[in-house]
Amino acid sequence: MSKDLRIDGARLSWRLEQLGQIGGLPGGGNARLAFTDEDKQGRDLVVGWMRELGLEVTIDKIGNTIGVRKGLEDTAPVMTGSHIDTVRTGGRYDGNLGVLAGLEVCQRLNEAGITTRRPLAVAFFSNEEGARFHPDIMGAMVYIGKLDLPHAYEVVGIDGKVCGEELKRIGYLGPAEPGWLKPHAFVELHIEQGPILEAEGLTIGAVDGVQGISWTEVTVEGVSAHAGTTPMRLRKDAGYAAAEIAVFVRQLTREFGAGQVGTVGRMEFKPGITNVVPNRAVMTVDIRNPDEAILQQAEAKLFAFLDKIAMAEGVKISTRPLARTQPVPFAPHMIDMVGEIAGEFGFKARRMTSGAGHDAQMMAEICPTGMIFVPSVNGLSHNVKEHTEPADLEAGANILLQMMTRLAA
Ligand code: GLV
Ligand code: MN
Ligand code: MN
Repeated sequence: MSKDLRIDGARLSWRLEQLGQIGGLPGGGNARLAFTDEDKQGRDLVVGWMRELGLEVTIDKIGNTIGVRKGLEDTAPVMTGSHIDTVRTGGRYDGNLGVLAGLEVCQRLNEAGITTRRPLAVAFFSNEEGARFHPDIMGAMVYIGKLDLPHAYEVVGIDGKVCGEELKRIGYLGPAEPGWLKPHAFVELHIEQGPILEAEGLTIGAVDGVQGISWTEVTVEGVSAHAGTTPMRLRKDAGYAAAEIAVFVRQLTREFGAGQVGTVGRMEFKPGITNVVPNRAVMTVDIRNPDEAILQQAEAKLFAFLDKIAMAEGVKISTRPLARTQPVPFAPHMIDMVGEIAGEFGFKARRMTSGAGHDAQMMAEICPTGMIFVPSVNGLSHNVKEHTEPADLEAGANILLQMMTRLAA
């Protein structure tokens, strides 16, 4: 019976629009950094919807929020979900789609009067973006026991605020132990956030895994000096050294080929004055590769270069690891299932590895996990112009509905 069931695309788009207005930005995106007032408002809205749909809502000690729809049997649920926090210049779909599509699945089943054998669960995990508190994917990482609560609580954010205090302040430090509900399977619908599906004219990506991700904060300390009077040979210029490091990150990507990406996303100089040689630079390096061995080589080369430039420029360089995840493969039968169901809908699904980190990569460690990708217009994400066509949102959510009901049968 549920084989012919289809989600309501207009209602899904309406929910995305409503949530997108919280922390709304000019140009269409939104900013809901983890554990801010905007995050709280977004959470309140989604929790309200969960309760309206009859889901039983549980919040855990890191703020992960799970709504459970009862099944005929009280067994391990089929879980879906994602995140509703965003980067500061976030779009409306990143994360939000996966959570709201899960609600839409529940609502359609409610309307059709269908109770699945296994329970269904819709989760939003805390601080997936890591844009305020490192590491990213924090909530899901705590959920599977890979990061312990005391460590997560004491993380200091980019604004100097303490993670655990902010979580408590917004009222989402819940009573449940993270990991309290172990799913039978986990499936996450997400936008691709890259250009591949669009370029190939495809609607569905069957994600086979997530690449390895390495984030490091690099601090360069030199000596501030007069920009006009200090001879070049006598400078210990932290800004110049940082710029060399940024250039080196790009060179690494040329050396290690197309699979290697590298980004310097943040760089700040002190004192930050036109006519003063910087005495301090703080920057972040994000390097990723689907191959763990190559990623380790890239890391080693980066660290060797830091030593080299410190020596050459007479500056002191220190590093702080911010996040590190290894490549994660998804369960073969989950990947195949995305492809098969897409085929039933007349879509040719493309297998692809995710370039972005996702909550699903953590869940993959505790249960069979898969992901469904839908195209991003112009490949844009982490950008207020992030957009996915309504027909593609609907297609992805329909595949999610089929996948969840079949896994729960
Ligand atoms: C999470 O959005 C990431 O940086 O991959
Ligand atoms: Mn995301
Ligand atoms: Mn993101």
